[in-house]
Amino acid sequence: MSFFDFISNDIGIDLGTANTLVYVKGMGIVLNEPSVVAIELSTKKVVAVGSQAKEMLGRTPDAISAIRPLKDGVIADFEITELLLSNFIRKVVRHRYLMKPRIVISVPSGITEVERRAVRDSAENAGAREVYLIQEPMAAAIGVGLPVDQPSGSMVIDIGGGTSEIAVIALSGIVNNISIRIGGDEMDESIMLYLKRNFNLLIGERTAEQIKIKIGSAYPLNEETTLEIKGRDLVDGIPKTLRISSAQIREALSEPINAIIEAVRQALEQTPPELASDILDRGIIVTGGGALLRGMDKRLREETNLAVNVAEDPLTCVVRGTGIVLDNMSFYSNILVKGKRE
Ligand SMILES: Nc1ncnc2c1ncn2[C@@H]1O[C@H](COP(=O)(O)OP(=O)(O)O)[C@@H](O)[C@H]1O
Ligand SMILES: [Mg+2]
Repeated sequence: MSFFDFISNDIGIDLGTANTLVYVKGMGIVLNEPSVVAIELSTKKVVAVGSQAKEMLGRTPDAISAIRPLKDGVIADFEITELLLSNFIRKVVRHRYLMKPRIVISVPSGITEVERRAVRDSAENAGAREVYLIQEPMAAAIGVGLPVDQPSGSMVIDIGGGTSEIAVIALSGIVNNISIRIGGDEMDESIMLYLKRNFNLLIGERTAEQIKIKIGSAYPLNEETTLEIKGRDLVDGIPKTLRISSAQIREALSEPINAIIEAVRQALEQTPPELASDILDRGIIVTGGGALLRGMDKRLREETNLAVNVAEDPLTCVVRGTGIVLDNMSFYSNILVKGKRE
């Protein structure tokens, strides 16, 4: 390691559809914020980024728009993604006196070559010396400490905001991978739709997410609960409150959850027999914010008959994975997609 390496702390980034996390070598996770940008429409000027911008979702006046540029798991809006990424990188670089860092960025495995280039360009524009991309399920697997370089297979399920990814990893590669555009956001939308259809109650995205986090579940609870929620009546337009039960919210969530289960089944069917037997021995690990939904593990266990474990601190697995890669760059070089243009 040269002196230059020592002072130019490298950076790992989990560019997620819901949250972006940044890890700085030697310091740990220094930034953890929603992937949201608020811009003034007339001037295209950034008004707020991260948590401050998320507060504005559904509450902006006409002149301002709060945007989630990665919402559906792909980069829906290049320009805004670049703004988001460079804003976060600059925040970290400015405060930590980092000189041109090397950056490892995890990206959803479904993104296109064009999108990959956009991510790489934004990081370079923001001051990166070298940019390496890593596929999200690989970073998650490394983050939870799976021996990804071994011949035996591991299955990782990452349930994020815009996507769920099910990947089987062996010998430093992704053997098979299913990525669906259904995750936490779709669960929130299902709650909104359920309340509208059954109770004529309109609620916003953020309220739906709160309901999911507070009383949502994927499997019957030992103690079912209720929650009072506020929204607007669809018929008379007046704000009203309603008491809703955890069983009702579970019913509301059934569609997206069934879709995730179905994708897991499909992934298992596509897994080569030798690796399937490894998974039978070692089980499945679940990461991402969706892993925190009550009973998700129980439900997956019942549906697959496999051992299912929720990763420790599932929201940070991916960024911790990028950190481990930074600390062992040469060991992991074969799983990185080098971002320098030839
Ligand atoms: N306790 C919880 N229960 C259920 N869902 C949760 C919980 N905490 C976070 N989430 C959901 O997890 C998703 C974000 O997960 P994350 O892994 O950060 O996504 P991404 O990698 O796509 O940015 C959001 O949809 C959020 O609502
Ligand atoms: Mg993620």
